[in-house]
Amino acid sequence: MNDNKHSTNRRRWLFGIISGLTGILSAAIGAPAAIYLFTPPKRTRSSGWADAGSINEIPLKTPQRVELQRVHFDAWKIRSESDAAWVVRTDAQQVTAFSPRCTHLGCAYHWEPRAEVFECPCHGSKFSITGKVLAGPAPRPLDQYPVRIEGDRLWLADTDDANADTRNS
Ligand code: FES
Repeated sequence: MNDNKHSTNRRRWLFGIISGLTGILSAAIGAPAAIYLFTPPKRTRSSGWADAGSINEIPLKTPQRVELQRVHFDAWKIRSESDAAWVVRTDAQQVTAFSPRCTHLGCAYHWEPRAEVFECPCHGSKFSITGKVLAGPAPRPLDQYPVRIEGDRLWLADTDDANADTRNS
């Protein structure tokens, strides 16, 4: 009789230990899975501003194509992407930066120094030095990047980031 009671207590104790360990294991496995399944994925976002070089290297009133690297954060992945801009320096601290893609169908346009216009080779759109459409079929002026100058460094945001900034403010 006493042996039977002792055996029942031991069985309960073992059952408790096994149940406890099972609970701990389930939580260890289930919590990350639940977080993965039930939390919304993080949005891809960029670092916001890309260094476009020294402003002193941009001649006055002569559009200059500059290359830059944009950093994008996609959950745990960090991706670097090459981009470019056409930069026009109108005076010592005044700069306008245009997206390098034509507003018609996205072709890369170039600056034509003799005619002093931006020309798109795909369908012949022309833009002034201020980005205004001079000849179609481009439906709107050149897209501009937000610009920031710190010391002699020129920083350009993406057009999408500018929209996000506007939405967040
Ligand atoms: Fe530039 Fe069509 S893409 S004119």
